Amino acid sequence: MTVSKATLAASFNAVAADYAATRPGYPAALYDAVEELAGRPLHGADVLDVGAGTGIGTAPMLARGAQVTAAEPGPGMAAQLRAQLPDVPVVRGSGDALPFTADSFDLVTCAQAWHWTDPARSVPEALRVLRPGGALALWWNVPDGSVDWIAAQERRLQRQWRQDDVTERAGTLIQDIAPSLSPHCRELRWSRTVPLDTHLASLATHSYIATLPADRAAALIEAERAALRDVFGDGPVTEPYVVRLTAVRTPA
Ligand SMILES: C[S@@+](CC[C@H](N)C(=O)[O-])C[C@H]1O[C@@H](n2cnc3c(N)ncnc32)[C@H](O)[C@@H]1O
Repeated sequence: MTVSKATLAASFNAVAADYAATRPGYPAALYDAVEELAGRPLHGADVLDVGAGTGIGTAPMLARGAQVTAAEPGPGMAAQLRAQLPDVPVVRGSGDALPFTADSFDLVTCAQAWHWTDPARSVPEALRVLRPGGALALWWNVPDGSVDWIAAQERRLQRQWRQDDVTERAGTLIQDIAPSLSPHCRELRWSRTVPLDTHLASLATHSYIATLPADRAAALIEAERAALRDVFGDGPVTEPYVVRLTAVRTPA
């Protein structure tokens, strides 16, 4: 069964509560790196968080003193964000057609979502809404395939829609659209330790599983439970991640 990119991109809405409860956040070092590559602190910055989802990537920027506006196309995800972060303005919109005037933000961020946009549209849109001297920062949590159990899981799951290519090529994709910009990249390793049930519930919120018929998704998750019990027994699961960050600054 081939599922369209649009269907995959919209799949999060049906699982938004589980997404909010179980997906990983991002380490503090990621936000340090965003500040470094943006050349300014988050404190006092006007930030547009594109594809903000339930606000997992948004909350730490608020905590650092940024004024964050969220752009999120999905109704289910936007509703979760409003529940989690009631003070954040949420505007329903796509990264491909941002509903904001030019020169509105110091920083445009996109956590785990830029692969759903069309760079030919989302790069010019981000550059349009940024002020001179602003920055665009894109990042993803990628499961660390150098760890044996992750490599085995990736082989079992055979993801239909792989983010990895975009996460590695984000800088090139930006330069294809805006050749004068110089992207900078960082990779940061981190991990979180969660109960097996949380790991499995988080896995089930991924688009390639959330779009399966319910019985097939349930069978896949139960097969993963069995495979991971062989590795972790009844203990918690340590999920290793590489955060891939790409950032560009616009001319001052
Ligand atoms: C994997 S979630 C990431 C959510 C959040 N940023 C995070 O870090 O957890 C991907 C999000 O991208 C949103 N999305 C899908 N298509 C999009 C588009 N064209 N522009 C912006 N966001 C989009 C989805 O609705 C979803 O909320």
